[in-house]
Amino acid sequence: MYIIRDAMEKKYKIITYGCQMNIHESEKAAGILEDMGYRETQDEKQADLILFNTCCIRDNAEQKAFGNIGAVKHLKKINPNLVIVVMGCMTQQKGETTIFKEKYPYVDIVLGTNNLNMLDTALTKVLANPKRKQYLIDPNDRPEIIEDERVYRTSGTNAWLNIMYGCNNFCTYCIVPYVRGRERSRSMEAIIAEFKSLVKQGYKEITLLGQNVNSYGNDLKDGKSTFAALLSELDKVEGKYRIRFMTSHPKDLSDEVIDIIANGTHLCHYIHLPIQSGSNKVLQKMNRHYTREYYLDRIAAIKAKIPDCGITTDLMVGFPYEEEEDFMDTVDIVRKVGYSSAFTFIYSMRQGTPAATWPQIPEEVSKDRIMRLIKEQNAMTKKLSKEYEGNTYEVLVEDTVEKKPGYVCGRTDFGRLVTFEGEPSLVGQFVNVKINRSQSASLFGEIVK
Ligand code: SAH
Ligand code: SF4
Ligand code: F3S
Repeated sequence: MYIIRDAMEKKYKIITYGCQMNIHESEKAAGILEDMGYRETQDEKQADLILFNTCCIRDNAEQKAFGNIGAVKHLKKINPNLVIVVMGCMTQQKGETTIFKEKYPYVDIVLGTNNLNMLDTALTKVLANPKRKQYLIDPNDRPEIIEDERVYRTSGTNAWLNIMYGCNNFCTYCIVPYVRGRERSRSMEAIIAEFKSLVKQGYKEITLLGQNVNSYGNDLKDGKSTFAALLSELDKVEGKYRIRFMTSHPKDLSDEVIDIIANGTHLCHYIHLPIQSGSNKVLQKMNRHYTREYYLDRIAAIKAKIPDCGITTDLMVGFPYEEEEDFMDTVDIVRKVGYSSAFTFIYSMRQGTPAATWPQIPEEVSKDRIMRLIKEQNAMTKKLSKEYEGNTYEVLVEDTVEKKPGYVCGRTDFGRLVTFEGEPSLVGQFVNVKINRSQSASLFGEIVK
């Protein structure tokens, strides 16, 4: 079906960096823009508005965003009416708004992480002002929680659902608590209502989002709203769909939650449980509030109750004070746990965090450690992938494969990506796939009846 678009219709392009939280917030920004009559384009030369949703978790994320914001300056010469918006975590850092004022005066609107709902007012003001003064919104000028947001969803059959915002943990390397504020949980009623509406709309996989999802409800202090209670309630909603959630903090992963996943109907047998480091000395310096022994106990509890559970993690090397033996403790964890995959990072110094004032590890040491760690994890991934060969699993078809016409891909309940022959019409459906072959993290198979 062709939709005839008004030639004068305004177009927007959104460029997103960072985590799922940001991907979802870009969908909310898109919702606002769609309501204002803008339509999406992938071509920035066609765009009347370019929005950068930024991340500052590591230096490279920030440099990339600054580079790309710099690169669109020339487009304003071609189209003087082009509006440039910057939002997301970067804008929320101390002194950041001054940087935009002084170095990027051609950026029209700067929004914080929690006042994205002001995008329409800001945009209306900017468009009404022929002189185009930069419009900076004070990141602290923000409401607690906004409900009934219009979301322009872009993740196909998967939908993101925020259950809470912010983080209270203050891991000593991390910028998130400074740029996203303290934990604020949405009410169970609001979450359940949104969840039911997503199931009704036909989404087949719903991912609950929060920086630390298993501390959900602690701030509500009503004695009822806990992560375990929320999962149980959501699992009762009828239909054929899956529930995932991220990210869980090991310190808050209770037996109750593990039991609910083990006995649930819709809860995926999958858990992302970032350990960061395998060394107790480093964990303590990171302010993670657990030891390697405690973490291994949580893994043992998961494996005992959910034997087919896919487990993934985040690992960091080169944190201040990390010595060779600490690093080897991390390698040991990789060997002991058997993660299906791991996100590996070199520690990046973030201004304003405690670790930024500590002695830093030389870059070549960190680089050497990360290479060794990746090699270790790749070997584990490959070994685990082999174990799936010959078995049949239910797969939710997520997309067609661009480079391989006639093929589609999707995920198993335990989170593995599988590619197989299939019609594009299968997207959004559950099919049984027999795994024939594996190549590192990827599985290949065929549909079986
Ligand atoms: N809230 C989640 C994830 C936050 S950010 C959690 O606590 O697990 C995702 C990952 O980025 C973290 O798990 C950590 O491994 C990494 N990360 C955070 N700050 C970092 C920094 N300063 N340098 C390098 N990696 C970092
Ligand atoms: Fe950052 Fe730690 Fe909070 Fe995760 S739990 S967002 S790593 S401070
Ligand atoms: Fe980045 Fe902000 Fe997410 S710093 S990782 S976009 S919470």
